[in-house]
Amino acid sequence: MSINLPVNGKNHVVPELIRIGVLTVRPATFLAPIADITDGPFRRIVRTFGGVGAVFTEMISSDAYTRNCERTLHMANFSESEHPVFFQIVGKEPERMANAAEMAEAAGADALDINMGCPSSTITRHGSGSALLKDLKLAESIISAVRKRISIPLTIKIRSGWDSRSLVFSDFGKMAEDNGVNAIFFHGRTRKEMFRDTVHYEQIALLKSQLSIPVIGNGDITDRETLNRMLKTGCDGIMIARAAIKKPWIFAELLSNLQVSPGSLFPIMEKQFMEITDIYPEKLALHKMKTVAGWYSRSIPGGKQLRVRLSHIHTIDDMMQLIEDFKGSIS
Ligand SMILES: Cc1cc2nc3c(=O)[nH]c(=O)nc-3n(C[C@H](O)[C@H](O)[C@H](O)COP(=O)(O)O)c2cc1C
Repeated sequence: MSINLPVNGKNHVVPELIRIGVLTVRPATFLAPIADITDGPFRRIVRTFGGVGAVFTEMISSDAYTRNCERTLHMANFSESEHPVFFQIVGKEPERMANAAEMAEAAGADALDINMGCPSSTITRHGSGSALLKDLKLAESIISAVRKRISIPLTIKIRSGWDSRSLVFSDFGKMAEDNGVNAIFFHGRTRKEMFRDTVHYEQIALLKSQLSIPVIGNGDITDRETLNRMLKTGCDGIMIARAAIKKPWIFAELLSNLQVSPGSLFPIMEKQFMEITDIYPEKLALHKMKTVAGWYSRSIPGGKQLRVRLSHIHTIDDMMQLIEDFKGSIS
């Protein structure tokens, strides 16, 4: 059975389930890894609305994680209510990545994902994230080292290449499949494209046609129209990032037509911020709250004003007061 989405007279369906190695995810929808956002409090909010099959951690530095860096251990935490959880690691040293993967499995992750797509120069200048797309051999060494050390499903998340002259997604897909990777999350843009223009649906369709492991399509899904365009590629599942930060209920909206008013973001923020305060040291908590509020403000009428005021917030109390002030003005 599948979930029908009639868009422009054509029906494309979100698969009811996807099998990734031994793991079954229902439905085939994924909350993407988003640095600074997809921590426990945020993932639990997305889960509360429903419609999401599995959630990703934000990218976890294999270096910091294996050195037991306190901040990273906070970021790497997840709770019972979030499963299945895909634990994403980033780095470039095969043995260190394998150590991190082993720790993630021991911590209870349901699957391990390797970040081979992050375009941020803070990551790529160390040769990690999408910089790995320039080094198939190193990427293979990482995958093979990790594969040997974990028994949970292994996935990779890629872009299509470093730039349009080096589209390597097919080579990476084949190499990954040959080395025991169980699924590929594919954001159909090059590193150079960052978030510009539209995602290349034809690349996602091509990769899907070339592999026997599942391919999950990612990029630009914000509504039924864009969801439909992604499903048309024939992908086995879909992943959403930015739309989920603006609307944590996006999966439920797309799958069961849940309608939520922008004003509902305030109680969501209050709940999320209380959890953030409980979990993180004050400085990190405030940083997280400001990041989250900045994204949510894009869905709130008058959100620009909220963003302006955010730049003057220096304490958690001020932050909570700001939310309180705005809450009354929007329904
Ligand atoms: C603020 C931000 C942080 C991100 N952090 C990560 C990350 O930690 N790991 C990763 O693989 N991708 C990361 N991404 C990329 C997303 O997971 C996703 O591939 C991309 O945003 C395209 O999906 P979308 O169009 O649904 O946003 C990030 C994207 C954004 C906007």
